[in-house]
Amino acid sequence: MSGRVIVVGSVNVDLVVRSARLPAPGETITGGSFEQHPGGKGGNQAVAAARLGASVRLLGAIGSDSFGLEAQAALVAAGVDTTGLLTDSRAATGIALILVDAAGENVISVASGANLRLAPDVLERELEALGSLAGDVLLVSNELAPATAAAALRGARAAGARTIFNPAPALGIDVGWLEFVDILTPNRGELAALTGSDPAGLDSSGFDPVLAARSLPVREAVIVTLGSGGVLVVPRDGAPWTVPAIGVEAVDTTGAGDAFNGALAAALAEGRPLEESVRRAVAAASLATTRVGAREGMPTADELAAALPR
Ligand code: RIB
Repeated sequence: MSGRVIVVGSVNVDLVVRSARLPAPGETITGGSFEQHPGGKGGNQAVAAARLGASVRLLGAIGSDSFGLEAQAALVAAGVDTTGLLTDSRAATGIALILVDAAGENVISVASGANLRLAPDVLERELEALGSLAGDVLLVSNELAPATAAAALRGARAAGARTIFNPAPALGIDVGWLEFVDILTPNRGELAALTGSDPAGLDSSGFDPVLAARSLPVREAVIVTLGSGGVLVVPRDGAPWTVPAIGVEAVDTTGAGDAFNGALAAALAEGRPLEESVRRAVAAASLATTRVGAREGMPTADELAAALPR
């Protein structure tokens, strides 16, 4: 029997303007189109796992406004259990302003609102209500108050879950938390930030992601997501290995990392080995870039099976 996927993370509404190119600081450009989509790293990851057939519960917070109602309705429609999605009447639902260019690249600015008000003790109680998490996978992203993300990882470890920590954004993280983490999933910039390397030197040969990953006290593996370059997996014991992305025509890379994390959690909760789980997650992330919106391109189990390299 498959385990559950418990997602702890942000729930936002994404306000997206798509245009030929991204404006420079201080510049105004016209000619774009506007769309509103459900988003937030936690919400996206939960939907990615649910689309693939996982039993998913999301722990997070929304405001008592129309955006919150829409965000919750989208999660429920996707099959996510939102019993642990709390409403904070003193805060607004998280909003992400997203600009996407013709190549599918984006810039994002988030007003976190209620996401930052989810308190560690409240989260701990929600986790405790789930009982033993043995056989379950707990996936935490970092658009939350740092103490809350830390409490989620600590609580999950104590309850016996396998833990995935997506350190996005890589702000306010204490490397000491990583002792509660089985699998860490930074992108290259987040790995550089976590290890104190100069983020401005990301493309220089001076930054070695394998060495950086090995310096972190993670229990099982660091999986570095590299966008169209696929992923680099650095196990705690054993040689690093890579998985290439599958070839797709990307129109919007927003949420590709979330698709990766949700699909990884779903596959691990099904009991699949790490290598197979990573291959499935890479394919899910590639497919997620083929439609506009963070969640729209996330595959079902059948769509993923059809896209997996044979
Ligand atoms: O990872 C993509 C997500 O980041 C968007 O949906 C946006 O809400 C921000 O949280």
